[in-house]
Amino acid sequence: MEVILTKTYDDMSNAAAQEIARQIRKKPNSVIGLATGSTPLGTYKELIRLHKDEGLDFSKVITFNLDEYLGLSPTHKESYNFFMWDNLFKHVNINPENVHVPQGLVEDAEEFCHWYEDEIKKAGGIDLQLLGIGSDGHIGFNEPGSSFGSRTRVKTLDEQTIKDNARFFDSIDEVPHFAITMGVGTILEARKIVLVASGDNKAPVCVQFIEGPLTSQVTASALQLHPQAIVILDEKASVQLKRKKYYNWIRDNKHTVKKYLDR
Ligand code: PGA
Repeated sequence: MEVILTKTYDDMSNAAAQEIARQIRKKPNSVIGLATGSTPLGTYKELIRLHKDEGLDFSKVITFNLDEYLGLSPTHKESYNFFMWDNLFKHVNINPENVHVPQGLVEDAEEFCHWYEDEIKKAGGIDLQLLGIGSDGHIGFNEPGSSFGSRTRVKTLDEQTIKDNARFFDSIDEVPHFAITMGVGTILEARKIVLVASGDNKAPVCVQFIEGPLTSQVTASALQLHPQAIVILDEKASVQLKRKKYYNWIRDNKHTVKKYLDR
């Protein structure tokens, strides 16, 4: 796991956007996995800027979102479909046919989950998956206890997640209790993973998933198993890390290592 320590929220967002932009420039028809929540908002803002100012081209990009609340229509203002269009898709030249967000209103959720997994496979698998992290350690809506082998399925939200997300709804009673989410196993199949975390409230969980043991009680710790996982933190989210000096040492020596590798 590569741990990148940045100072501010904007620095974290720009670093994540650069990773995504690099992927899209290298492979214009990249399959990108996307996340919702407040943390990736700055990353999306920077991607929009890169599109407008530097011509970053989304026309061939294919996207798959991690999750959606079960029971919310795609036009509901708190649905993740609405969020993605509002905060990214409508501002860039993405082809709507290439956008995939799980359906919150489905007759047969199980069948839909199989279909979603098949669509990811048909697209050739995810090249880069962007992730946030919940204060309970979840990635997607894989709440504590989710198997590292889990696939896209319906998941019951943890009480903590319901409380955390209540800020977006008029009242806590309106927060759905179920969601469709890619599984931890689905996420781990992405070729590259970029996780962003920001703020004091994420500091305890960041030290747990980066430097603590591998456990399904903190599903983000599964990233320790991934060969190309990059974790980008702002200063507040990184305060409890024990090995900060080493992460910075790696960053400072990156170009020297590259010289050896390029020989
Ligand atoms: P947040 O949510 O970015 O709004 O903190 C993260 C998540 O729950 O994955």
